[in-house]
Amino acid sequence: MVSSAFVLLSVFAAAAAAKGGKRCLAWPWYNAPLNPGVFNNGNGEVVAIYDWETYRPPSTNDTGGLEFIGMQRCLDCDSSPLTWLPARLQEQGWHTVFTLNEPDLNGITPGQAAEWYIEHINPLPVAKALPAVSSSVAPGQGLDWVSDMITACAGQCHFDYVNAHWYGVSFEQFKSFIEGAHARFPNYRLVISEYALQPPATQDDQVAFFKQALPFLDNADYVELHCIYVATSPALAEAHGTSPDWVGNCLYNDDGSPSAVGKLVLSPSSG
Ligand SMILES: *[C@@H]1O[C@H](CO)[C@@H](O)[C@H](O)[C@H]1NC(C)=O
Repeated sequence: MVSSAFVLLSVFAAAAAAKGGKRCLAWPWYNAPLNPGVFNNGNGEVVAIYDWETYRPPSTNDTGGLEFIGMQRCLDCDSSPLTWLPARLQEQGWHTVFTLNEPDLNGITPGQAAEWYIEHINPLPVAKALPAVSSSVAPGQGLDWVSDMITACAGQCHFDYVNAHWYGVSFEQFKSFIEGAHARFPNYRLVISEYALQPPATQDDQVAFFKQALPFLDNADYVELHCIYVATSPALAEAHGTSPDWVGNCLYNDDGSPSAVGKLVLSPSSG
């Protein structure tokens, strides 16, 4: 029968996609009016959500059925108190933890981070990402900072992923950054927890970029997860200080539906 064959094929396709899904939502704290379930439509491309904090994503529908990844973004801070980290992890059933947000730009030394990590992150019984560094190529920043932290760890830091952000001007530059990161850390899977073209970039520019970047990352076997910056709407982003020449990368329209970039993120790479 045509109809049951179609159903079987759809189920198979959904299962196959779900297995390979590695996209995730980078969810700002001011997103309470939005529903992450919009990106959990059964295609299985988007699998996780994080909000740079250890509290659950402010939204109309919790995580929308996506896996929540907690992030201890600061050494310690009121929004994500370090002493609450183990309890939040346990209560919320995390599988993965992200750590420190752009410490290379925030004055945290690799040695300080290594000491903190060994004491507070090592004991957590989940998969762990090293601090999320910027894509700065200034000496001592970006991937240099990661190398310096690994050296400072002297083999004592337990981690599963190297985590980096990327902002730049072209897909070619992006591809070379990611391939360079893999060449530099060949024994660890990569998480790209923020990436987009930097401002100024129109929505058309971002669409052209993500059309290449999404399949590239999906098909790179050393990439664990990639979080497109940013899962919010232009109105919310601008109301919280984002410049109007940098909202073309928003995954939502102002009415809460997926934007042109959001539709790409929802669609399997192969078409
Ligand atoms: C809310 O999330 C759940 C998964 O946790 C999903 O099944 C449901 O469809 C979502 N609701 C809406 C309105 O998107």
